[in-house]
Amino acid sequence: MKISSEVFFEFLDIYEKRPISNNLWGMRSHGMFFLWYLLKQIQPDLVIESGVYRGQSTWMIAQAAPDAKIIAIDPDLTQRFYVSKNATYRTEDFSLLSIEQDFYKTKAAFFDDHQNAYERVMQSTKQNIQHLIFDDNYPPGYDDCAGNPHLTLRDCFEMNQHQEKAAALKKVIKQYCIMPQIIGKTAGFLALGGQVSDIPAIWGSLEEIEPHYRDKMKVFYDDCYCYRWLTYVELQIKVL
Ligand SMILES: C[S@@+](CC[C@H](N)C(=O)[O-])C[C@H]1O[C@@H](n2cnc3c(N)ncnc32)[C@H](O)[C@@H]1O
Repeated sequence: MKISSEVFFEFLDIYEKRPISNNLWGMRSHGMFFLWYLLKQIQPDLVIESGVYRGQSTWMIAQAAPDAKIIAIDPDLTQRFYVSKNATYRTEDFSLLSIEQDFYKTKAAFFDDHQNAYERVMQSTKQNIQHLIFDDNYPPGYDDCAGNPHLTLRDCFEMNQHQEKAAALKKVIKQYCIMPQIIGKTAGFLALGGQVSDIPAIWGSLEEIEPHYRDKMKVFYDDCYCYRWLTYVELQIKVL
C-alpha cells in the first residue's frame, strides 16, 4: 500500500472540521485516517458501525462514503454528541442484525465495540459482508487500560491456545492487513504500561518528515500513543 503525502493532507483538511476536538476514549487522528482511507477506497453502499460512543467515527464514515447508508449500533446511545443524518441508530447487538441482501452491493462493517473479534468475523460471514475494519486489534497480552479486554484477531492468530479459531478464520479471510503507526514508535499509554509498537511506523519520528510538512503532520505524532492496530479484513463472500 503506497499513500502519497497529498492523501494525508486531504484527510487533515477534513479532520480539522471534526465535531469533537478531543475525542477522549475514542479514536484519534491515526485510527480516523485509516478508517477514512479504507472506506474511501471501498466506497460501500452500506456501512455498519458497532461502537458509536460520542459519534466521531460515525462522522468520519460519512466523510469517506457520503452516499453510504450507515447503521450505527451502540447499547448506550445517550453518549452521542454528534448525530449523523446519514445514520440509522440501533441499540441491539450486531449479531442480531438482519440485512436485506439484495439491496446493497458493497457492504462494510466497522467494529470499535471491544467485543470478541472472532465472533464478529463469523457473524459478518453470515451477513455476507465483505469488508471489515477492526479498531483495537491488540497483540496478545496487551493491557488496553479500559478494563475491558476482548479477544482480538491477533490473539487468535498469534496464541497457540487459539489455533482452532485461527484455522477457522483462515477459511473465510481473503486479506488481513494491520495498518501501521503513522509517526512515532509508541503504541499505548507508556505511563500506564503501554508498549512500543511491534508494527513499524511509516515515519519513525517527526524529524523524518520534510520540515515543510512537519507542522501539518504533527497531529499524528501527538496522537501516536493512541495507535490501536486498526486492521482491515477482506472476507471471501458467497456469490448470491
Ligand atoms: C471506544 S468506544 C467507540 C468510539 C467511537 N468509535 C469513536 O471513536 O468515535 C466503544 C463503544 O462501544 C460501545 N459498546 C459496548 N458494547 C457494545 C456492543 N455489544 N455493540 C456495540 N457497541 C458496544 C460502548 O458503549 C462505547 O460507546
